[in-house]
Amino acid sequence: MIIKNNCLKIDDLQVSVPIIQGGMGIGISGANLAAAVAEEGAVGVISSVGLGLFCKDSAFDYRTANKEMLKREIRRAKEMTKGILGVNIMAVVSDFEDLVKVAVNEKIDLVIVGGGLPLKNPLKSFGKIKTKILLKISSARAANLLFKYWDKNYNNVPDGVVVEGPLAGGHLGFKPEGINDPENKLEILVPEVIKAVIPFRNKFKKDIPVIAAGGIYTGADMCKFIKMGAGAIKMATRFVATYECDASEEFKNIYVNCKKEDIGIIKSPVGLPGRAILNDFTREIAAGHKKPFTCLWKCLKTCDYKVSPYCISMALVNARNGNLNDGFAFAGANAYLVDKIVSVKELIKSIMQEYNAACAMQF
Ligand SMILES: Cc1cc2nc3c(=O)[nH]c(=O)nc-3n(C[C@H](O)[C@H](O)[C@H](O)COP(=O)(O)O)c2cc1C
Repeated sequence: MIIKNNCLKIDDLQVSVPIIQGGMGIGISGANLAAAVAEEGAVGVISSVGLGLFCKDSAFDYRTANKEMLKREIRRAKEMTKGILGVNIMAVVSDFEDLVKVAVNEKIDLVIVGGGLPLKNPLKSFGKIKTKILLKISSARAANLLFKYWDKNYNNVPDGVVVEGPLAGGHLGFKPEGINDPENKLEILVPEVIKAVIPFRNKFKKDIPVIAAGGIYTGADMCKFIKMGAGAIKMATRFVATYECDASEEFKNIYVNCKKEDIGIIKSPVGLPGRAILNDFTREIAAGHKKPFTCLWKCLKTCDYKVSPYCISMALVNARNGNLNDGFAFAGANAYLVDKIVSVKELIKSIMQEYNAACAMQF
């Protein structure tokens, strides 16, 4: 049987291709990538992280530049597509509330909060708006805690959750020792999170889709998680090696050329472990070297810039621009499978073909 109704429902939003492209800072998923994904019927996501670093207008301080650049990226994406667009905002950034406000004012379809858990509903103060909110969590415990808290304090709950397992790229919501714990495999986490969300679906009469993420690579993977009850999957790594991805050619080629053994875990100044393609930069940091820097502004609530061995924002923007001597690339555990750069259209088409074929076999 071929699954005909792939549609993902997030409250009153209908997404025809149940794929959410993961937000990738700094400057990796901008308007170009997000719009291309949205054009194919999936959800395209602009990462708000560090956008101010690309601002050429010296009249702005960094905080203002971040807001201004997010506004411009959203407007640029909307000029390219009428599809569904989201913004990823990390809860650990110092200007979290500012960025949420910009996204809501620009009438973005959805905000995905990653990198920390917002106990307070950041959309609450806006009254009646169309923007949906999704939270990225890594355990049923976190889902339970947040849903209960929002229910009790705001009488509402998030419109969806992304459950991200330890194979994801970027910052991980696990302690280092939890990364390889079999109990934290995505296949275990997805049903647990669905179970945690069900009482709130019933109480609030909302779909509250659970979206699976982290290491999902093929349409067969996608079919597996959708069959488990996930409303959609979220992928980031696969979208890096596309023509439309906003990163430099050099950045994309590190994905094409990396090997399985190059992908590993770094300790990030954010205070979380992160999965990346290891290189001389990450090895030097792991060996205790420091990369002196001037903090432009304290962009992360959790970064102690006086003791941090390097500036993560600068390291990521350098890599994004192709300077891998002074930075590194975040990547999911399956990045070594990437062997060429393709268009977003081809990528989504091939994943959906694999998905339909896999689902036809598995039913
Ligand atoms: C290069 C890169 C940058 C990322 N940047 C962010 C980010 O700024 N904020 C965030 O919440 N997640 C970030 N992520 C995580 C992704 O949005 C996504 O949830 C995750 O990578 C999914 O796993 P996959 O890459 O195996 O598909 C990043 C991932 C990658 C690969």
